[in-house]
Amino acid sequence: MATRAPSLFAGLPQGLFQSMDMLQSVCGFSENPPPHPPPCEEVLPSQVVQLEKYVAEPVNLPGGLSLLKGRVNTADVFGVSNSDLVPGKYEGGLKLWESSTDLVNALKHEIQDGQLSFNGKKVLELGCGHGLPAIFACLEGASTVHFQDFNAEVLRCLTIPNVNLNLEKAHKQQACHTDNAAIPTKTTALAPDIHFYAGDWGELHSLLSVVATDQVDLAGEVDKIFLEEDVLLDDSGSQDGSSANQEIPASSNQIQQVRCTRRHSQCHACEWARDSDLSEGGYDIILMAETVYSVSSFKKLYGIIKKCLRPPNGVVYLAAKKHYFGVGGGTRQFKSFVEEDGILGAHLVVDIADGASNVREIWKFFFN
Ligand SMILES: C[S@@+](CC[C@H](N)C(=O)[O-])C[C@H]1O[C@@H](n2cnc3c(N)ncnc32)[C@H](O)[C@@H]1O
Repeated sequence: MATRAPSLFAGLPQGLFQSMDMLQSVCGFSENPPPHPPPCEEVLPSQVVQLEKYVAEPVNLPGGLSLLKGRVNTADVFGVSNSDLVPGKYEGGLKLWESSTDLVNALKHEIQDGQLSFNGKKVLELGCGHGLPAIFACLEGASTVHFQDFNAEVLRCLTIPNVNLNLEKAHKQQACHTDNAAIPTKTTALAPDIHFYAGDWGELHSLLSVVATDQVDLAGEVDKIFLEEDVLLDDSGSQDGSSANQEIPASSNQIQQVRCTRRHSQCHACEWARDSDLSEGGYDIILMAETVYSVSSFKKLYGIIKKCLRPPNGVVYLAAKKHYFGVGGGTRQFKSFVEEDGILGAHLVVDIADGASNVREIWKFFFN
């Protein structure tokens, strides 16, 4: 049975609680060293556990979007009460953290602004917990959606029921709209290939089916992109549906310069495609919320991203707090860690300073 370390922070305001638990996690304030992580495993939808106390409730997001989520008791699942996080045992997946709804909002705006499309994409949510961002990807037409959480129990008791609830609701709404042909409908295919994976980031990549099974010639694909650019010369095809607003150069010399610069910069992705495990597939979009609180996990988190992100156009959306105070983790620390490697660059999508918590940020990472 997992136990929580005696709180060094008793009496502190409730609002600080989540960061304080994370502080214990990162600084190793627990009485014992973190236990060996649970084994990596695929959790089948049939292994769902319908807890009697699973209570479904709406999460209403700005702009009229409403998703459904369950509420389960940490004590019923892990036998741990009043704990957001127990390092190495339970990493917080039963709670809905603020940044995950920030991320859904940001994704919605990215789609509206023409910067992102989930249509036909392969998507992975790392550290999913409730899985709302990846559920949103399902509803937006992704072809493959994989949910990952540290704990199989979280997937069985919460993520799978959440996915079922939201897809059932969407199917019903689609059926209603189809019956009433007068109402225009969004014709999204709501039948993605969905899988659930549990385990530690450090051991996960061998389990993720999309990395091993797709037969895609990525090096060929990268060359094809260059060829298409040579024909079009409009400089509009950047990461994942986004459009770079650069002016078209006037002279053929300038055109040649742009072509060379792009060839040079895309070479990182090109080399990466050839050298990495990804000669056979990968994810187009990786989503994650509140996964960068522990500096000690950065290496394995970035490691799994590198192993799974599909060059040259794969992107990662990260939503998290700018700083987890007293801990050292946060978006800025993770961004620096990633950029040091030189393979991915980053762009701030939005920051949220609503006073509800530390400043939160959404970052988009892409191949340099
Ligand atoms: C704070 S929770 C965030 C849950 C959810 N994304 C949200 O924002 O509501 C952190 C998540 O990161 C994942 N996680 C943390 N450390 C991990 C590790 N070493 N390996 C795999 N997953 C990990 C856990 O699955 C956990 O659900």
